[in-house]
Amino acid sequence: MATRDIILFGAPGAGKGTQAKRIVAHLGIPQISTGDILRAAVRAGSALGLKAKPFMDLGRLVPDDIIIGVVEERIREPDCQLGCLFDGFPRTLAQGEALDDMLGRAGRNVIVIGLEVAEEELTRRLSGRWTCPQCQRTYSDPGTCTVDGARLEQREDDKPETVKKRLQAYREQTAPLKDFYQKRGRYRAVDGLGSEDEVWRRVRKVIEG
Ligand code: AP5
Ligand code: MG
Repeated sequence: MATRDIILFGAPGAGKGTQAKRIVAHLGIPQISTGDILRAAVRAGSALGLKAKPFMDLGRLVPDDIIIGVVEERIREPDCQLGCLFDGFPRTLAQGEALDDMLGRAGRNVIVIGLEVAEEELTRRLSGRWTCPQCQRTYSDPGTCTVDGARLEQREDDKPETVKKRLQAYREQTAPLKDFYQKRGRYRAVDGLGSEDEVWRRVRKVIEG
């Protein structure tokens, strides 16, 4: 059976986590969100969490060697053998090259769905984001999770100062990956403005096209 590997690319707040849930439900492949993995590690107080936390709190990227090791380990698991959805990875050219190596060794290659959203909208979304601490679903209003009933929380790094730093890290370190994938003919731009359903219709067209 053909493998299906997809990178969901975009700035903080572009809607990667939101659309990721729909893609994985539609295609039946696992979601690998490096942000979710790191936040779980921080909550658990593991060695990974202790190393990552200071970077995350400052809105900076966690060093490549740490992240690449985490993903390498994760994609060796049995549920990843027919493909995965990468959410928030890769985020530097070094991570992009490492992922090409990992998948290339298995004869797999990847398409990139780039959710494109203007910066003022990103800031607006992040400052109004509420997250379920259990399942990580996100909402634009406070309250409880419609799936598991947990009380929604605001993410530590959604404070305005940290949001600025995250957007800066995106511009400087992550945005160059767009060109990297465009040159390889792998980049598919999707307009990330509009309702979640509207964006999902555009995303679905790309994954089914
Ligand atoms: P990570 O968890 O990956 O965060 P991020 O990239 O900053 O992205 P977000 O999760 O903030 O945004 P999203 O695109 O998922 O948007 P969402 O769907 O939630 O990373 C966190 C940190 O971990 C990093 O800063 C770094 O320190 C570290 N890290 C992680 N991966 C790393 C890596 N590979 N290398 C190095 N370090 C790494 O939507 C946002 C909001 O908008 C929500 O409220 C949502 O309800 C709302 N929304 C979604 N879609 C729409 C829509 N169409 N219209 C209106 N509102 C919408
Ligand atoms: Mg996310």
